[in-house]
Amino acid sequence: MTELLSVRDLDAGYGPVQVLKHVGFSVSEHSITAVIGSNGAGKTTMMRTVAGLLSASSGQISFAGKDVTLTPTHLRVAEGIVLIPEGRLVFPDFTVEETLRIGAYSSRAHAGADARAAEMYELFPRLRERRNVRAGSLSGGEQQMLAIARGLMAAPRLLLLDEPSLGLAPSTAQMLFETIVEVRRRGITICLVEQDVHSTLEIADYAYVLEDGAIVADGLANEMLGSAQVRESYLGL
Ligand SMILES: Nc1ncnc2c1ncn2[C@@H]1O[C@H](COP(=O)(O)OP(=O)(O)OP(=O)(O)O)[C@@H](O)[C@H]1O
Ligand SMILES: [Mg+2]
Repeated sequence: MTELLSVRDLDAGYGPVQVLKHVGFSVSEHSITAVIGSNGAGKTTMMRTVAGLLSASSGQISFAGKDVTLTPTHLRVAEGIVLIPEGRLVFPDFTVEETLRIGAYSSRAHAGADARAAEMYELFPRLRERRNVRAGSLSGGEQQMLAIARGLMAAPRLLLLDEPSLGLAPSTAQMLFETIVEVRRRGITICLVEQDVHSTLEIADYAYVLEDGAIVADGLANEMLGSAQVRESYLGL
């Protein structure tokens, strides 16, 4: 499989605080690649650095064969790297429909926006029903769906999802994981960061374990599900 994203020897942090230490990982095209790790491991820092919201202090990020380490965020979006940040962050006063339109702001995405909005309503029927409702009045699960749909409106090649299941009821979270599988089926590569390790490993192809800012293990997701170390540390088994 071709590598869509390749991260090498990445260091990043906040001012004098180094969080990521020589992080290396890759995401194959059309895969669901997971990064698991406990609170404060550096997962969000890693996603923000890949998206360009935080600069790398050293190392290299390549996307589709191009070095994007110094590329500003909006140009990474134009290349196809789209982050759905932790905590959903939808604008409460915009309606569902308006939020989707905001997602299609890049010129590449703007062209196909009508067709893509229709596709989003097909993928998330609940959002169609609520298209004229303000984002702030949606449930947590609906807001997460909206955040994902808004990201998909940007026509990503790689969708970075930072803890999409956080704070959702188990049945809603389950639905969300199924939607992620469907998004991948439609040809979008997924990099998923999660604390719900079990559900994540069930849908992922490959997984990395991040601990204290460093990658400490990686392997096929189904093998990780069986690994004694992962079961003990992350699944409480
Ligand atoms: N803006 C910031 N300024 C300084 N330190 C920060 C900042 N954001 C995060 N950190 C620190 O960086 C480390 C990694 O945080 P990060 O948010 O990347 O972890 P995480 O794995 O996403 O955690 P969580 O599971 O809680 O989302 C933590 O020690 C955190 O305190
Ligand atoms: Mg986080």
